[in-house]
Amino acid sequence: MSSSTVITNIATLVTNDPSLGDGSPLGLVQDAAVVIDGDRVAWTGEASKAPATDNRVDAGGRTVLPGFVDSHSHLVFAGDRTQEFNARMSGRSYTAGGIRTTVAATRAASDAELEANLTHYLAEALRQGTTTFETKSGYGLTVEDEARALRLAARHTDEVTYLGAHIVPPDHADDPAAYVALVTGEMLDACAPHARWIDVFCEKGAFDGDQARAILTAGRAKGLHPRIHANQLSYGPGVQLAVELDAASADHCTHLTDDDVDALANGSTVATLLPGAEFSTRAKWPDARRLLDAGVTVALSTDCNPGSSFTSSVPFCIALAVRDMRMTPDEAVWSATAGGAAALRRTDIGHLTPGARADLTLLDAPSHVHLAYRPGVPLVSGVWRGGVRVV
Ligand code: NIG
Ligand code: FE
Repeated sequence: MSSSTVITNIATLVTNDPSLGDGSPLGLVQDAAVVIDGDRVAWTGEASKAPATDNRVDAGGRTVLPGFVDSHSHLVFAGDRTQEFNARMSGRSYTAGGIRTTVAATRAASDAELEANLTHYLAEALRQGTTTFETKSGYGLTVEDEARALRLAARHTDEVTYLGAHIVPPDHADDPAAYVALVTGEMLDACAPHARWIDVFCEKGAFDGDQARAILTAGRAKGLHPRIHANQLSYGPGVQLAVELDAASADHCTHLTDDDVDALANGSTVATLLPGAEFSTRAKWPDARRLLDAGVTVALSTDCNPGSSFTSSVPFCIALAVRDMRMTPDEAVWSATAGGAAALRRTDIGHLTPGARADLTLLDAPSHVHLAYRPGVPLVSGVWRGGVRVV
């Protein structure tokens, strides 16, 4: 039998349910309470009207919001790229080629080392309020190493993405077509049982539009749903391909033409922005305002990986999005919760409507705006995942 808990004395409750509270997209309720029953939200509303429960937690006038949904990370890796980061901060530019360093280290690592690394960064993310994360393969790039990465990831999340098409590995440099055949053939067969999604890095120096279409189409035929690394380092076909294939998300979206923005606005593909990557590669910011004004659904995620964005902190990404990408604090918080859920085509997370999964983050602040207003400050003081307090 499940027991019920009320979290009460919440100054600001972000529900992401516009039918609740102030009627804004964040569905803000002041002086609020949430009731958790088992792994679900049972009730949300004004504290004075909360039903009786078995247990009571006093939020002490702080903020509660849905747990962050980090819909894009690369956490199955070994090694470190401090030197590459140092060189970049001394003026060198970022290229896809750095991925090879991590591929070599990942192939050389044992299963135990890879899983210890993965759980280390997951714990780090959880302490910062992330209750759902997606993660990818992409640093193995052999049949065995890709399948192993996905097997390890699947022990920790349902949102697992096959990214055999991250780059053409050095062992196939002379024959990229043979590598695409491997990714769409034997490697796909070995990987599909462990993954929900298929991704491709569609970029100069990685895979072109035709290769990306072939890879994602082959994945779809094996029951994987597409998502794409698109238009990160340069203009290209990735975003329009994403919409054409009904990918759940086009990720990065840093270099967009008006046609790209129109395609996103008229399709059901979410634009996932990853400001940690622009921060850590000292690149130009994606124009979130342009996407939002066109009516595109925007998600915000970390892209946590050892090369281009070595942060597991969604609050940091929210602060960057507000300061440098012209998102309002409300928009950024929505994108990091409900937006991430949309990018994973999940309806059970990213909001606190009764019936939703009880994934909640407690902030030591009177409102969610403090996530951007107090950058770099560890405001997360409690996390519930599936109704269980884990932080
Ligand atoms: O999302 N863009 C491709 N993949 C990663 C970078 C991976 C790396 O540099 O190791 C990204 O930024
Ligand atoms: Fe990425």
